[in-house]
Amino acid sequence: MNAMTSRAYIPRFEIPKTSIIDARTPHFTGQKRLDMINRIKRLLKKQDAVLVAHYYTDKDLQQVADETGGYVSDSLDMARFGNEHPATTLVVAGVRFMGETAKILNPEKRVLMPTLEATCSLDMSCPAEVFNPYCDQHPDHTVVVYANTSAEVKARADWVVTSSIAVRVVSHLIDKNKKILWAPDKHLGRYIQKVTGADMTLWPGTCIVHEEFKASALRRLMQKHPEAGVLVHPESPEEVIDLADVVGSTTALIKAAHDLPNNEFIVATDRGIFYKMRQAAPGKIFIEAPTGGEGATCISCAHCPWMAMNGLHNLAHTLETGSNEIHVDEQIRIKALRSTQRMLDFVRSHA
Ligand code: 13P
Ligand code: SF4
Repeated sequence: MNAMTSRAYIPRFEIPKTSIIDARTPHFTGQKRLDMINRIKRLLKKQDAVLVAHYYTDKDLQQVADETGGYVSDSLDMARFGNEHPATTLVVAGVRFMGETAKILNPEKRVLMPTLEATCSLDMSCPAEVFNPYCDQHPDHTVVVYANTSAEVKARADWVVTSSIAVRVVSHLIDKNKKILWAPDKHLGRYIQKVTGADMTLWPGTCIVHEEFKASALRRLMQKHPEAGVLVHPESPEEVIDLADVVGSTTALIKAAHDLPNNEFIVATDRGIFYKMRQAAPGKIFIEAPTGGEGATCISCAHCPWMAMNGLHNLAHTLETGSNEIHVDEQIRIKALRSTQRMLDFVRSHA
């Protein structure tokens, strides 16, 4: 396995503080909250729109999606659902790459998002103008990118994958003797490499949320809760993944919480997932995996600052005004569709 050297490229970007985002995002309670939810429900109907939300978004948004025939899921199933649903407008609550994926797959539909500011540290760590020349330097590699990338990066890729099928796609490529250029998440890339034994060159990106989980503090927490199952998203560092009972996509972790006999779980992913985990496994206890470490402070504190930008207030505003529409350049979209559609076709044929 080769890692791209930090001398070659060091991702740099601003991380908004979750506490500041939370303070800027109004949280409605009581009658105001119900009025807002009812207003959104009416608007969804009026606009022939369906709401597709990620598990990390606010539970009010997840509730509205559930109650209006929409969908709450991981990145793969969000893409699949939007692709198969007949609504003429898709409203994607999540981060920018999720809206772009919806548009890549559904050019005829209007794709709206509560905010266009919600990005992702992985997407930002892999700008197309740096990534494309890097791919040019590796012409003998198959380019496999995580869905958490821009449309431009997907346009350059041979394959797009999400965490739920990355291992299966890479195993399939190994059977064809392919060397893989993987971007942007180095932890997920290392995990896939370890499981499959693939020859992979890794881009040095990380998710700022999962990067903060700490193995030493997790070990201590596990000693205090010896009966707890440990559920870890593969965007986490290797030492944290090594402590897991189950490693998987958000959907896989929720399924594990339901299926495993444990009554208690330590969970290393964004805490937004607890809403659906509690529904899937009522009565079980869920504990956040530690982020800060001894005496340290966390930045994201197990909650994605960009996911936190989605709220009832901007969902209603988007539906009312048609603002925050996602547009993808048509030349880019056509190229990005090849690698993205390949993923959906793979899932269909390997179900
Ligand atoms: P999942 O595809 O497992 O939901 O993870 C995507 C992700 O990183 C959301 O931020
Ligand atoms: Fe990106 Fe991490 Fe936020 Fe997911 S949780 S959107 S990978 S920064």
